[in-house]
Amino acid sequence: MNNLEALNFGSKLLKKNKIISYNLDSELLLSNILNLSREQLLINLDKSLNKENYYAYKKLLRRRKENEPIAYILKKKEFWKYCFIVNKNVLIPRPETELIVEQILKMIGFKSSKSILDVGTGSGCIIISILKERSNCNGTAIDISKNALKVAVSNAKMHHLRNKIKFINIDIDKLNHNKYDFILSNPPYISEIDFKRLEKSVLFEPKIALKAGQDGLSEIKKLILKSKSLLKLNGKLVFEIGFKQEDKIKNFLKENGFYINKICKDIFRNARIIISTNLK
Ligand SMILES: C[S@@+](CC[C@H](N)C(=O)[O-])C[C@H]1O[C@@H](n2cnc3c(N)ncnc32)[C@H](O)[C@@H]1O
Repeated sequence: MNNLEALNFGSKLLKKNKIISYNLDSELLLSNILNLSREQLLINLDKSLNKENYYAYKKLLRRRKENEPIAYILKKKEFWKYCFIVNKNVLIPRPETELIVEQILKMIGFKSSKSILDVGTGSGCIIISILKERSNCNGTAIDISKNALKVAVSNAKMHHLRNKIKFINIDIDKLNHNKYDFILSNPPYISEIDFKRLEKSVLFEPKIALKAGQDGLSEIKKLILKSKSLLKLNGKLVFEIGFKQEDKIKNFLKENGFYINKICKDIFRNARIIISTNLK
């Protein structure tokens, strides 16, 4: 069997199992097994594939056909300008979360030295992307999941930022020390009802990264209340929200002494990121 035949076999199998990105995924899986870039694979379609690699490829195809996300199979995901290690203990970084990075970078000058807290760091993708570009800032990254923090630490090492970020395994509710210039977060915000409607592939991700009580607002409210004491006066709270949560969260922020600076929308025009200021 040559690479082209293997790709055709993989695409057909994934298509039959309703994997929409069947062509791309089979290319990514085979190039991963052969340790080639996708482009290198595509110019070597006539090369023969040995038995060992064919079996390894089939094993990955089997996982993908069961809807396991490609990022978990490949153990990596691109986010902002960088590549991050991921595994089943962390949420797979999403493109819409890059809006947090974009907005924070706009607010912090190149030479500025701000202290930044990332709540629910997961893979560490947000804080690491920011500190890669703002080298005078320092970060604290917390997560309730010990296993998620291990991934974040590996990513910080990979990006040469281990000495710039303090990692703490703690619930946001219990964090009491320090005052920060910026608190940022992509908290869990899926309600009980919406959780039942999620795509099959999302169910591979940690529940603790997704679910937030009956109405999906419990973790966001916790974040807002706790940020009151953790933020400096005029410090900024920047966080992601879910579908149709904008109005309730805006009210909750106002009730708790925050000024709303900006609401950023994603490419589908849904409100996604709220930027707010701690006024009193
Ligand atoms: C939606 S994920 C975001 C991960 C990463 N920041 C990203 O954007 O890809 C939420 C993260 O918050 C963590 N988490 C959930 N509840 C928490 C809490 N009460 N305190 C601290 N971290 C929490 C979860 O373990 C998970 O890693």
